[in-house]
Amino acid sequence: MRIDIISVVPELMTSAFSHSILKRAIAAGLAEVNLINLRDYATGKQKQVDDYAFGGGAGMVMMIEPIAACINDLKSKTHYDEVIYMSPDGERLTQKISNQLSMLKNLIILCGHYKGVDERVREHFITREISIGDYVLSGGELAASVLSDSIIRLIPGVLNDETSALSDSFQDNLLAPPVYTRPAEYQGWAVPEILLSGHSKKIEQWRHEQSVLRTKQRRPDLLA
Ligand code: ADE
Repeated sequence: MRIDIISVVPELMTSAFSHSILKRAIAAGLAEVNLINLRDYATGKQKQVDDYAFGGGAGMVMMIEPIAACINDLKSKTHYDEVIYMSPDGERLTQKISNQLSMLKNLIILCGHYKGVDERVREHFITREISIGDYVLSGGELAASVLSDSIIRLIPGVLNDETSALSDSFQDNLLAPPVYTRPAEYQGWAVPEILLSGHSKKIEQWRHEQSVLRTKQRRPDLLA
């Protein structure tokens, strides 16, 4: 899978893709992430990418020309399955959406900044708008990193043990069960006996029960 992320501050995202699981996925060639600086597509001495809003009001708006030039350049070389705009008014990200997107081949993600992008970009270039939650970030970069992370970890081969993505919270509308590691007892706080029993069938059953219990307690909406 290839993800091309367009931004005016791509540096905000370098760390997200330079460590741990995402770094390994990229090194193994399972995912390719290109951070594209929108300013490279701006013309003129100033390399301007934003301008005042027509009709007035505070805040700058990202201009259509550099965005169009960038997306058209990418599209002239690659076929993209979706051109996603990160925005608080998009559809709310869920595990289901990440699952769907993880099966695609090529994605563009456009990060908004300032007051957002000229509406004509959304009308004519964007195929899908995604929000990571009902709060406003300073830009789409952190949201694009969240979205990319949630997608890339689902690509087959990215996690060492493929079942480990399947047992994540939300994969079957259940939250993940509690987990423990050594020591088996800390200041009198003991790990549930069953986990030390070696009975894999019973452990699996216990984990499922705990998942259901936890979901009922914390996120009953998922069971409805
Ligand atoms: N840009 C600003 N806030 C955002 C959010 N909540 N989700 C996605 N993109 C955003």
